[in-house]
Amino acid sequence: MLTRLSLEEINRIIACPNCKAPIALVDRCDAACISCGEEYAWIAEETWEFLPSTYTESSELWATWQRLQDNGVVSYEEDPDHNLGVGDRPDCLAFSRFCSFDGMVLDVGCGPQDWPSYFEYRTPRTRFVGIDPLIRRSSSLYRQFRGLGEHLPFRDAVFKHVVFATTLDHFIEPVIGLREAHRVCQADGEIAIWIGEKKKEAPSQVESPGWYRALRKPDQAEDMFHLRRLCPDAVDRAIADANLVISEKDEQAIDAFRKNHFYRVRSR
Ligand SMILES: C[S@@+](CC[C@H](N)C(=O)[O-])C[C@H]1O[C@@H](n2cnc3c(N)ncnc32)[C@H](O)[C@@H]1O
Ligand SMILES: [Zn+2]
Repeated sequence: MLTRLSLEEINRIIACPNCKAPIALVDRCDAACISCGEEYAWIAEETWEFLPSTYTESSELWATWQRLQDNGVVSYEEDPDHNLGVGDRPDCLAFSRFCSFDGMVLDVGCGPQDWPSYFEYRTPRTRFVGIDPLIRRSSSLYRQFRGLGEHLPFRDAVFKHVVFATTLDHFIEPVIGLREAHRVCQADGEIAIWIGEKKKEAPSQVESPGWYRALRKPDQAEDMFHLRRLCPDAVDRAIADANLVISEKDEQAIDAFRKNHFYRVRSR
């Protein structure tokens, strides 16, 4: 039976996302880092917002990111089955089989749903933790926090697996997200990445639903949800720039224009 991490267990792995010093969480209280002074708001039962005050520094890009996030929320609420890992999706199950989870797992950009379908294939001792800017309350099935992949609120070398499931192409700084993943991953652990590729020539849907037609694409963005999509070459470059190497790759065609790419990545 899978159990959610207790607050005591969380307090053994949590750290300030700004300076990485350990912090002590007490339920129903805002948290403060005694090392750098940053404060983190308590949101709801045993979950906090771990956004360092510095995250909006390059504010024009982050303002675009926020508009893309707002578009994302509409798609997750209006059509979760196509935009989040929920239900019996063969692509989610294929990614889960590729990951084969064991031990402590961090899902970066876990989404707001209670239980991502790609958590399916796991050993009984697997414990999941999720982080996503859209968390409003922690799921009762596993522990989630509100935060960003570029500023992870965890100590070094805590996780056996770190996962990015259709998430890395939503980042302003994918390389920083990968470096953070590397920092919190154990030396013998691995990072798993799922990127959906869509060719520029892909025909648009014959008739888009009303909620989609009402969305606006920010000027700097490539589409309604991504600042820029990551093609396989860009993923390879980001992995190398983060000082990581690919140990395994899998590729699954969806149709003539779309593919899913799975990567298993390790320390160099
Ligand atoms: C397409 S959804 C995927 C959610 C989930 N992994 C799934 O497959 O169901 C992309 C997710 O990335 C999250 N995200 C966007 N920017 C992020 C960032 N900088 N750090 C962490 N998560 C981010 C979004 O909030 C959203 O939940
Ligand atoms: Zn700090």
